[in-house]
Amino acid sequence: MERTLSIIKPDGVKKNIIGEVIKRFQDEKINIVAIKMIKLSKEEAKGFYAVHMERPFFDSLTNFMTSGPIVVMVLEGNDVIARNRKLMGATNFKEADEGTIRKDFATDIEKNVVHGSDAPETAAFEISYFFNALEIAG
Ligand code: CMP
Repeated sequence: MERTLSIIKPDGVKKNIIGEVIKRFQDEKINIVAIKMIKLSKEEAKGFYAVHMERPFFDSLTNFMTSGPIVVMVLEGNDVIARNRKLMGATNFKEADEGTIRKDFATDIEKNVVHGSDAPETAAFEISYFFNALEIAG
């Protein structure tokens, strides 16, 4: 059993597709064991994306991530990190497979609707960034 962090980014919340994204998880039998809506401060966004600090898009990305509410979730299931990334599609929506969340809803390489952890180590960091143990069911 594995856990991963999923975020519906500000563009996804504004597009009113919270339910659509959750439905895709549930159709895939991926369990949601924690969920909340929050609005990040700039400092919080910078801390979350610290690994990208040197990238040219860091300032723009952290501004975007603070531009409105986000939905953060902990997903649980067998191989859920890879399964969630398959549902999301490639970072760049232009390269995403048909039927993926980003192919269907993203408009921009930055405004790409969802985030998902890419490995067990990043999942552990990202889950603990938003949730303490008491907030995670299951
Ligand atoms: P995410 O999966 O959340 O991980 C880092 C984020 O940075 C990515 O989704 C995009 O939102 C953003 N990103 C990645 N590459 C670029 C890029 N070349 N230009 C702008 N934003 C990017």
